[in-house]
Amino acid sequence: MDAPTTTSADSGSDGGGGWFTPRKTPDPETSGPERQDADDRRAGPEHPVGRPTHDPSRQRADEGRIPEPRSHREPPHAAPAATAGPTAAAGPTAPVGPSAEPRPPRSLRDTASPDAILVRRTMEEIGPVADQVTSYFYALLFVRHPELRPLFPAAMDTQRDRLLRALLTAAEHVDNKLVLVPYLKNLGRGHRKYGTHAAHYPAVGECLIAALTQYAKTTWSAETEAAWVRTYTTISQVMIDAAAEDELKAPAWWLAEVVSHDLRTPDIAVVTVRPDQPYPFLAGQYTTLETPWWPRIWRHYSFASAPRSDGLLSFHVKAVPAGWVSNALVHRARPGDVLRLGPPAGSMTVDHNTDSGLLCLGGGTGIAPIKALVEDVAEHGRRRPVEVFYGARTDHDLYDIDTMLRLQQSHHWLSVRPIVDRQAHHLQLPDAVREYGPWNEYDAYLSGPPGMIRSGVDALRSVGIPGDRIRHDSIEELVAAAT
Ligand SMILES: Cc1cc2nc3c(=O)[nH]c(=O)nc-3n(C[C@H](O)[C@H](O)[C@H](O)COP(=O)(O)OP(=O)(O)OC[C@H]3O[C@@H](n4cnc5c(N)ncnc54)[C@H](O)[C@@H]3O)c2cc1C
Ligand code: HEM
Repeated sequence: MDAPTTTSADSGSDGGGGWFTPRKTPDPETSGPERQDADDRRAGPEHPVGRPTHDPSRQRADEGRIPEPRSHREPPHAAPAATAGPTAAAGPTAPVGPSAEPRPPRSLRDTASPDAILVRRTMEEIGPVADQVTSYFYALLFVRHPELRPLFPAAMDTQRDRLLRALLTAAEHVDNKLVLVPYLKNLGRGHRKYGTHAAHYPAVGECLIAALTQYAKTTWSAETEAAWVRTYTTISQVMIDAAAEDELKAPAWWLAEVVSHDLRTPDIAVVTVRPDQPYPFLAGQYTTLETPWWPRIWRHYSFASAPRSDGLLSFHVKAVPAGWVSNALVHRARPGDVLRLGPPAGSMTVDHNTDSGLLCLGGGTGIAPIKALVEDVAEHGRRRPVEVFYGARTDHDLYDIDTMLRLQQSHHWLSVRPIVDRQAHHLQLPDAVREYGPWNEYDAYLSGPPGMIRSGVDALRSVGIPGDRIRHDSIEELVAAAT
């Protein structure tokens, strides 16, 4: 796995090609966005490379400018560290293990790199005004770079803070490359479906710095700004490189026609689609999905089966109150409708190099990827104990229990336990898991609402399962895994 490299910022003060100044020096031959895009399309695989097109004597890290991403055509291993800031020499990676707490443990804070310490100071200051920072950031982005507005949804809804929140979280955990690099690579690949190009990253960086300058007045300084520039450069370069590498082997998105729509309960549907070209993925992963009714609004959905020989993909979707995409999929989608899918993502996959058992907790539609894992184990043909706890608020919500019980009948190594929380307020799944076991020979897999994942992880750790044997995917996976 490649580590992100850090390059210092081009001052750009003379308009000499720094990405903060494209409007000053729009040289279409060498530095214009179109030319940059063309370069990116020809990009090769990622390498830690230098930036020979820039005069190192002009490179200063303290100018508050986001440097141009490295050209992928440059020769590998050219002066990678010559201008690296402290981030490149980051301290040891943090212990990886899920937790709901967003603050790093003391051991991580003690070993944090100088840049990470400065970044965290800013984060502490802007924490209470995060909403205002987000609004200001988007206002700046769309006023200064109106050409970027069409990439975003028409209505910037409750999820509009995802970009900035991820960016800030990634910056905060920049030392934890073990977790951060795979996360950012995935994010970079996923950004291709939005129409994001390498040339867009400096605009986002510029507005990030401007928003932080505005709201972190107490902690802001030239030194802090330089730390943020280096950190943003590191983060964006990993995303840019991953997107360029992905461009060589996969489309930015897939079209997928709905071939069947099965309403299992009044608010849960199984939607099966046929992608327009082969869609490689692993059991336990998820995709992002856009419906024709809400353009540019993407949501995550897990694959409900292991890869099938007919190439069809199924999703179990629950319509949430006032939910845009879920209601469209459950109540509106019909065979013949065409959806868009982003690339597969997620690390909740079966390790076939071990014989350990699988302890699976699926809550609600979270049972979908668990079923995929069971199918994967069955197809692989190795006998491994698989224990599934299927949680739901009511009997009625156990919409796929028949399928799971049928699988149990076919496979003697599989046991399925439905756990219904009759109090209807919180899932009792974790408590049930504590009653069985021992689980020391098992890897754990969790899928479901964030609250269930959090309490499930706590329960699993309390019965002695180490963090590195617990797999789950959720929006908060970065924060969870980094602490
Ligand atoms: C890795 C991953 C995999 C996922 N897999 C699946 C899956 O297989 N099947 C599935 O149905 N969903 C899955 N989800 C959830 C899915 O991505 C959407 O968040 C969900 O469908 C709601 O989207 P929406 O556009 O309908 O609602 P939004 O328009 O985003 O939200 C509308 C309102 O509903 C609230 N809301 C959002 N989600 C819920 C919820 N679960 N319960 C109650 N209120 C909610 C929001 O806070 C908001 O107020 C997954 C999420 C992740 C992160
Ligand atoms: C280091 C830089 C960036 C980070 C960390 C980041 C992170 C994110 C995250 C986490 C999301 C939420 C959805 C998802 O997981 O894909 C998102 C959405 C998005 N990002 Fe980025 N992003 C970055 C840079 C950019 C750039 C340069 C652009 C181009 C203008 C961009 C455009 C978008 C768009 C259009 C969306 C969808 C918005 C939405 O769903 O509301 N991002 N970004």
